[in-house]
Amino acid sequence: MSYTTLVTGANRGIGLEFVRQYLADGHRVIACCRQPEQADELQALAEAHPGSLDLVALDLSDPAQLFGLKAYLGNQSIDLLISNAGLYGPKGVAFGNVSEADFAPVMAVNVLAPLLLVQTLADNLSAGAKVALLSSKMGSIADNGSGGSYLYRASKAALNAIGKSLSVDLAPQQVSVALLHPGWVQTAMGGPNALISTQTSVRGMRQVLSQLDLSVSGRFFNYDGSEIPW
Ligand SMILES: NC(=O)c1ccc[n+]([C@@H]2O[C@H](COP(=O)([O-])OP(=O)(O)OC[C@H]3O[C@@H](n4cnc5c(N)ncnc54)[C@H](OP(=O)(O)O)[C@@H]3O)[C@@H](O)[C@H]2O)c1
Repeated sequence: MSYTTLVTGANRGIGLEFVRQYLADGHRVIACCRQPEQADELQALAEAHPGSLDLVALDLSDPAQLFGLKAYLGNQSIDLLISNAGLYGPKGVAFGNVSEADFAPVMAVNVLAPLLLVQTLADNLSAGAKVALLSSKMGSIADNGSGGSYLYRASKAALNAIGKSLSVDLAPQQVSVALLHPGWVQTAMGGPNALISTQTSVRGMRQVLSQLDLSVSGRFFNYDGSEIPW
């Protein structure tokens, strides 16, 4: 059965691989990124899959742009909403030099934007739809043995709280929610020493998503299906 997936941060890294794999399996994809006209790989995929891939401009640091996305979608149904876009924030920010100027943009894109995205598109989510929020093990308070990374850790812990609340609030409309850790993945964010490819990460997360339903909604899963403690 073919369904419609919307992915944010779709122009590179993990987001781009989600687009590739869902298209390859014959699904329709709506790929959001800041500059579609410069997204060469997405443009090539759109040419290779005519009618199956829509490219939509969306900068998540500007919440007003979500109204543009909503206007574009109208009342089209979305079966899978993947909030993937995220940023680590400036390197070298440590205890002693954290500033509001560094903190605020990370929280805006990693925390507020995913919530506003789901809130804006809630009416487009079909009964049985799934929402995937790309979190990180670094947002696990239980797993934090090394400290530091204040901005990124705080943002993903906050995103986890949001995902849990969404799972409760969206259950009446039969929409389930997963917080996903993609693994340590070879992307610009993960760096060259990362352990797994985007292909392996996305294949694993798709498997987790295929098993997501209301009975496990609101939980925090690793890409291999194991559960991560909050
Ligand atoms: N890689 C890892 O090891 C790892 C581990 C744990 C969690 N994650 C999470 O997985 C997700 C994807 O990470 P990745 O490794 O693929 O990162 P990436 O290669 O750095 O890609 C980040 C994506 O987010 C987009 N983005 C950033 N700020 C944005 C904004 N203001 N508006 C719209 N899009 C924006 C980027 O778009 P531009 O190209 O326009 O900048 C890009 O498409 C993130 O949420 C990340 O926190 C990754």
